[in-house]
Amino acid sequence: MNNHVKIFEVGPRDGLQNEKRLIKTADKIKLVDMLTDCGCSHIETSSFVSPKWVPQMADAAEVFAGISKRTSTVYSALTPNLRGFEAAAAAGADEVAVFGSASEGFSQKNINCSIDESISRFTDVVEAALSKKYNVRGYVSCVTDCPYDGPTHPDKVVQVALKLLELGCYEISLGDTIGAATPETTDLLISAMLNYMSPDVLAGHFHDTSGRALENIGVCLEHGIRTFDSSVGGLGGCPYAGGATGNVDTVAVVTMLEDLQFETGIDLGKLKKTAEFAKSLIEG
Ligand code: HMG
Ligand code: MG
Repeated sequence: MNNHVKIFEVGPRDGLQNEKRLIKTADKIKLVDMLTDCGCSHIETSSFVSPKWVPQMADAAEVFAGISKRTSTVYSALTPNLRGFEAAAAAGADEVAVFGSASEGFSQKNINCSIDESISRFTDVVEAALSKKYNVRGYVSCVTDCPYDGPTHPDKVVQVALKLLELGCYEISLGDTIGAATPETTDLLISAMLNYMSPDVLAGHFHDTSGRALENIGVCLEHGIRTFDSSVGGLGGCPYAGGATGNVDTVAVVTMLEDLQFETGIDLGKLKKTAEFAKSLIEG
C-alpha cells in the first residue's frame, strides 16, 4: 500500500480569498514562508483573477515576489484565463490551476460563464501553459452539491473531469465547495469517477462546513486517493458560495493521517504554530 499522502496546502489562497479585510502582503508572504518551513510540498500561493471579483488576491504578484522559495516546494496559483496564466508565469509561479464547476449555477456566479464556455477558455490556458512546460491542475467545484442548483449528479463531475484531463491537466481536484458532502455522497462520487480514471489523478478538496470533511477524506483513502487539499488553521470559504466555511484544517488532516500510519512530510509541531499565525490574520 502506498502510505505517502500529498497535502496540497491551499490556505494562502482558498483560506484568505474570502476575507473582507485586506490582509497585509507581508503577512501573506510570512504565512507562505512558514508553510515552506513546515515541509509543505505544494502551496497554493495566490490567484491571478480579477481584483474586482476577489480584491484579497490583488497582490498575487507581490506575494510571489516576496516569498523565499525552496526547490522542494511547488508554489502554484489559480489562473482562470490566459491573462491570469501570463501574469502567474511572469510572477514566478511554478504551477497553475484552472477552475471549473460541475454545476452551471456556480460556474456562472464564480467565473461568469457556462461550463462549456469555461472549457473553451481553459483550452487556451492549458495549451499556453503546457507549451511553456508548466503543470496544470484542474479543479471541479460543487462535486456533490451546489448552492444554486442543489445536488450534483456524479456523471456531471465525470464529464467535466474527463474534459480537463483531455486538455492536459495532470490532476483533478474534486471540490466540495460548500462542505455539504457526506461519506455516502462522496462514496457515490468517487465510485463513479473510478469507472473512468485512476485514483492517482484525483484529489479531494473538502470544506468543513458540516464537520464531515475528515470522514469524507477517509472514504477517498479507502478508494486509493492519496492527494488532499487543506487549509492551515481551517481558514477559508468561497466568495461565490454563501455559507461556505473553511477548508478542512491541515492540522486535523495531518494528525488523522499520522494516526492511520500515512506520512506527509509535514512537521506537525511547526504546522500548529503556523495555524496559530494563520488564524491571527483572520481574527486580528
Ligand atoms: P469577466 O467579468 O467575465 O471577464 O470575469 P472579463 O474578461 O470581462 O474581465 C472583467 C474585468 O476583469 C476586466 O477589468 C478585466 O480586465 C479583468 P475591467 O475592464 O472591468 O477593469 N480581468 C482580470 N484582471 C486580473 N487578472 C485576470 C483578469 N481577467 C480579467 N486574470 C473572471 C471573468 C474569470 C476573470 C472573473 O470572473 C474572476 O476573476 N473570477 C474569480 C473567481 C474566483 O477567484 N473565485 C474563487 C476561486 S474558485 C474557488 O474558491 C473554488 C475552489 O476552491 C474549489 C472548491 O472549493 O470548489 C477552487
Ligand atoms: Mg475551495
